Amino acid sequence: MPLDPTPVPDELRGLRIALLISGGIAAYKVVDLASALVQAGSEVRVAMTSSATRFVGPPTFEGVTGSRVQTGLWSGGTSPEPHVFLGDWAQLILVAPATANVVGRIAAGRSDDIVTATLLAARCPVVIAPAMNDAMWAKEAVQENVTTLRRRGVTIVEPESGHLASGHVGTGRLASSQTIFNAMAHAVRSRYDFAGRRVVVTAGGTREPIDPVRFISNYSSGKMGFALAAAAADRGAKVTLVSAAAHVAHHGVEIQHVDTAEEMLAELRSQLRGADLLLMAAAVGDFRPSRAAKRKIRREETPSLNLELEPIPDLVASLAGDEALAGVFRVGFAAEDSDLDAKGVEKMKRKGLQAIIANDISRRDIGFGSEYNAGVLLFSDGTRHDLEKSTKREMSDRILDLVLPKLKR
Ligand code: C5P
Repeated sequence: MPLDPTPVPDELRGLRIALLISGGIAAYKVVDLASALVQAGSEVRVAMTSSATRFVGPPTFEGVTGSRVQTGLWSGGTSPEPHVFLGDWAQLILVAPATANVVGRIAAGRSDDIVTATLLAARCPVVIAPAMNDAMWAKEAVQENVTTLRRRGVTIVEPESGHLASGHVGTGRLASSQTIFNAMAHAVRSRYDFAGRRVVVTAGGTREPIDPVRFISNYSSGKMGFALAAAAADRGAKVTLVSAAAHVAHHGVEIQHVDTAEEMLAELRSQLRGADLLLMAAAVGDFRPSRAAKRKIRREETPSLNLELEPIPDLVASLAGDEALAGVFRVGFAAEDSDLDAKGVEKMKRKGLQAIIANDISRRDIGFGSEYNAGVLLFSDGTRHDLEKSTKREMSDRILDLVLPKLKR
């Protein structure tokens, strides 16, 4: 009869979790742990040191997780960069069992196998569950390495005392699955403060066709929208990016490509149902050709060309009028060259927004195409927050920090 899986805390459901396994007998226990996580809806990928594969074969983990196991720096499935792929992909990493050897190599900052390289490339919380002989665990060298890792922010799940593989009783046995799960949940709780939230972000400059090969657009690079989407996804939100810019989307961001303002509006109407937050970073065009030519306009046949333009309706303003989307907290962006506060407040009111970020396009060191931005975040309740010059990614996290308390639970 199959055993009931260990209950998985809610915080771990739906997360992308990398399990890094080193060569200890307790590796067999991690099979059940992986299985429980998969059954709870987490996405699990496994990497093993070569000695770990002596205890449990990779096919066992492949069967449980449905994904290829990485066993070396040169075998990354479809990734061109196997040494950093998992570290970049994961929202949480568990090293279990962690041998004395792997603990030492992690503390030393090595990257000569898939487990250590993955950890060096990681940005997410890391939980390490050591398991080893009791004399090894007690050794000063190991304890100093553990202290070093703790100081660097790693969560250590201490081994328990009990019957060891060597035949006697001592401290060194891998902690129970429940203890490990609780430590993992604790490690992600503050980090994933957008878990359970649906966030829709727009990015890039819309393109309005003149004919099948030409369009009217603007200089927006889409970098701010992509940075916001990445930040929200890294904090656990389910993110859809409606984009008129063609960058590669961050892990966990679902991207919907659009060209015109009309396509963006249609996509937003369907994506925003049930969403918590709209971050409208796209530079939507203000005018479009009244008619797009069906065939390429040929210079030889066209001595002069007058384009008739018509205004593009305001997308956020029309979304504000949609009752089905009343629960969505809508944040707009305003590129201004003077009077940021006054113009921001006026635009926020006119467009029915709950908040607006006004940034100063008269400054040449920030804004369009730059990695940096700065401005002011204004809320409809009258509060304001300066957004000091920072990278677009840092500014995104600051915006999310300020907006989160305003979202309905
Ligand atoms: O009026 P302005 O273009 O400065 O407003 C910028 C804000 O309004 C941005 O959030 C932009 O995405 C949004 N906008 C819109 N529809 C338009 C023009 C701008 O939703 N047609």
